[in-house]
Amino acid sequence: MKPGGMRIVTRVMLTAAVALALALALRVGAQAMDRADLAKVLKAIPPNGPFERYGNVTMRSRAKAAGMAPVVFPHWVHRARYTCRVCHMELNFGMRRGDSGITRALYTSGKFCGACHDGTTAFTVQAGPNQQCNRCHMANTKELNKRFAEFAEGMPLASFGNGIDWATAYNEGNIRPVNSLAGQVTLPFPEKLKKPLKLGTASPRSDVSFSHQDHYAELDCSSCHPDVFNIKLKSTTAFTMETNIYGNFCGVCHMLVAFPMNDCRRCHKGMSNSY
Ligand code: HEC
Ligand code: HEC
Ligand code: HEC
Ligand code: HEC
Ligand code: HEC
Ligand code: HEC
Repeated sequence: MKPGGMRIVTRVMLTAAVALALALALRVGAQAMDRADLAKVLKAIPPNGPFERYGNVTMRSRAKAAGMAPVVFPHWVHRARYTCRVCHMELNFGMRRGDSGITRALYTSGKFCGACHDGTTAFTVQAGPNQQCNRCHMANTKELNKRFAEFAEGMPLASFGNGIDWATAYNEGNIRPVNSLAGQVTLPFPEKLKKPLKLGTASPRSDVSFSHQDHYAELDCSSCHPDVFNIKLKSTTAFTMETNIYGNFCGVCHMLVAFPMNDCRRCHKGMSNSY
């Protein structure tokens, strides 16, 4: 078997192992967690698609109207090189599909994609002898998927999402994303946020702790405050796994780009104990 084949088998087995562990948790861990709640949560989570497609944003409305193939924006290519804050703060990309209002006129004048796709940092958006329109406007993702497979080869494994443990990749230096278009800048981190927060609901039944420091490595405060988490309203009292799964709170990122909700034990450290 080719080495790539072995990795795929490993990944599939990892996924199966987690599914089995969850099935067991439903039986054995009943006293630790309400069984009906857990079953409801598990049923509501969408299945993980192919690893290479997780985090891809397909933009088709303007492209289609102009007779161009849809644009596929892959997060994996970009997050290996840039932290989230480069695009979602410095370059003003929205964190909701379609929110940014990208047009050809804007990006050819150096906004959005054009801030980097200028023929120097990355292949150009301009028409001309070096044009590569079809690297963004793609009829299918075959080439892109092939490059994903090569990229994923050296990366730490995860069971869901891209099949890549991005947190470990970042911490161990498999990827070294810069945190500003100006290169690496030092961002002061408030001392008082160093202690992880214990999150609880109105009727706390779980054991989730949230690390500001881990998230601040890649994100800006404004990625979460005040839109996703309103501190004054103590928005976490409205938490349930269902609101998360429907793309609110943690689910804003942890359903679409960061590891998805299927990966229970990465947030619920206690859950792995009942496996
Ligand atoms: C770096 C990626 C990228 C490259 C390269 C690129 N485009 Fe686009 N293009 C986009 C994005 C993003 C949109 C917005 C897509 C949407 O919302 O449907 C877009 C939209 C368009 C549109 C729709 C009209 C409009 O006003 O937005 C046209 C026409 C277009 N591109 C033509 C081209 C041509 C021709 C080339 C090559 C010379 C090209 N594009 C190269 C990313 C790219
Ligand atoms: C190179 C730029 C870039 C980087 C880096 C980047 N993003 Fe994005 N992100 C985008 C673009 C472009 C979109 C689509 C915006 C639109 O459609 O208007 C997007 C959309 C999203 C969405 C919504 C996806 C959907 O399917 O609706 C989320 C969530 C998101 N990004 C989170 C992140 C996180 C978390 C990181 C860091 C791990 C990150 N992004 C890094 C450019 C980037
Ligand atoms: C912060 C800089 C930055 C921004 C913003 C950015 N890109 Fe990129 N992009 C890159 C770099 C760097 C690469 C890797 C370049 C290479 O392989 O030549 C890349 C690669 C890609 C690829 C992979 C193509 C391939 O053939 O492997 C696609 C597709 C792409 N970008 C689309 C987009 C679209 C669409 C946007 C805007 C919605 C965008 N990018 C915004 C820096 C950026
Ligand atoms: C990934 C999302 C995320 C990012 C990024 C983030 N926060 Fe938070 N923050 C949270 C969550 C979740 C809570 C808990 C909110 C609640 O209880 O409603 C919180 C709570 C807080 C609190 C209240 C702390 C307490 O003890 O109750 C402060 C102050 C705060 N954040 C400041 C910041 C600052 C400053 C930054 C940037 C350095 C930042 N946050 C970045 C998600 C985030
Ligand atoms: C704005 C985007 C965003 C939001 C909102 C967000 N996260 Fe994250 N989180 C990330 C990114 C990006 C990573 C890096 C790992 C990855 O991409 O898979 C991460 C990593 C983590 C990790 C580290 C996992 C590990 O294995 O080291 C935990 C735990 C976590 N998030 C929990 C939460 C919880 C709980 C919430 C809600 C209170 C939350 N996150 C909200 C983007 C976000
Ligand atoms: C990205 C982080 C994250 C992941 C992944 C995650 N959860 Fe949660 N979960 C939370 C947060 C935050 C809460 C609310 C805080 C609390 O109650 O302690 C919560 C609460 C819960 C609750 C309490 C009941 C409720 O709805 O309020 C259950 C049960 C639960 N999660 C089960 C699961 C299961 C099963 C999985 C995997 C299929 C999972 N969670 C994956 C973050 C996560």
